Amino acid sequence: MNVIETKEILYEYPDGTKALEDVNFKAESGKIIALLGPNGAGKSTLFLHFNGILEPSSGEVLVNGRPISYDKKELMKVRQEVGIVFQNPDDQLFAPTVMEDVAFGPMNIGLSKEKVESRVKEALKRVGMEGFEKKPPHHLSGGQKKRVTIAGILAMKPKIMVLDEPTSGLDPRGASQIMRLLYELNEEGMTIIISTHDVDLVPLYASTVYIISHGNIIKEGSPQTVFSDVETIRNANLRLPRIAHLMEILNKEDHVSFGKPYPLTIGEARRKIREQAKD
Ligand SMILES: Nc1ncnc2c1ncn2[C@@H]1O[C@H](COP(=O)(O)OP(=O)(O)O)[C@@H](O)[C@H]1O
Ligand SMILES: [Mg+2]
Repeated sequence: MNVIETKEILYEYPDGTKALEDVNFKAESGKIIALLGPNGAGKSTLFLHFNGILEPSSGEVLVNGRPISYDKKELMKVRQEVGIVFQNPDDQLFAPTVMEDVAFGPMNIGLSKEKVESRVKEALKRVGMEGFEKKPPHHLSGGQKKRVTIAGILAMKPKIMVLDEPTSGLDPRGASQIMRLLYELNEEGMTIIISTHDVDLVPLYASTVYIISHGNIIKEGSPQTVFSDVETIRNANLRLPRIAHLMEILNKEDHVSFGKPYPLTIGEARRKIREQAKD
């Protein structure tokens, strides 16, 4: 079942910029789906359609099989179902303290004080930010801010979480902490949709990849399928994952092959190299 689906959506910003053209995107329940594309490709614009922040100029967006209705009450419901974590935490965090920030969503849907408190506690624990309740968000590091924004969404208990470039600007450790958390949430049944231009990250986590370029989806499939189409990847101003690039060079320049498709991760490459070394 597709929890989110866009049908031929087109979006034009008020200044006339066509940011999306005939985009068909599907997110299957329980999966981790990656939207891969260079800067300006339309990733953020597409994501803002998933919970009705933007309404397509034409085409439609379905959540759980139903077209989004753009009246206020229905949008509230959609936003409980689909949580969006913006790329820049400063666009999301606004309350004077971490606690008030995370509490805002649950309070807004009218939960009791006790329920709000327990949701805030649980969410901050989940992202490893207990003890920061009274801190002003602007005193936190980039990675901590990101985790608080994720807590704010988790506190709403959405079934679908959409994260716009969740690892951008984070150091390697911060990035892998976030990805590990997303992986765990997914294991527990949450559908996760991320955008990124980090090609090395995609094969580690995503089961389905969409490539977006100039507002068009130009390729979709498993990481293996998508990264086999080297020409499309490079035409979209992206590159192969480093490991696959190394395998391509070994194959083409040195005539050393570990078989095709090229491994995309260290784990896959290690397995193939060991197998071959044994022969
Ligand atoms: N508020 C806006 N008004 C006009 N054009 C915009 C606006 N936001 C984004 N764009 C344009 O829409 C296109 C897609 O942008 P965006 O969705 O932010 O791409 P990405 O997230 O992949 O970097 C770009 O050409 C960008 O300049
Ligand atoms: Mg963006």
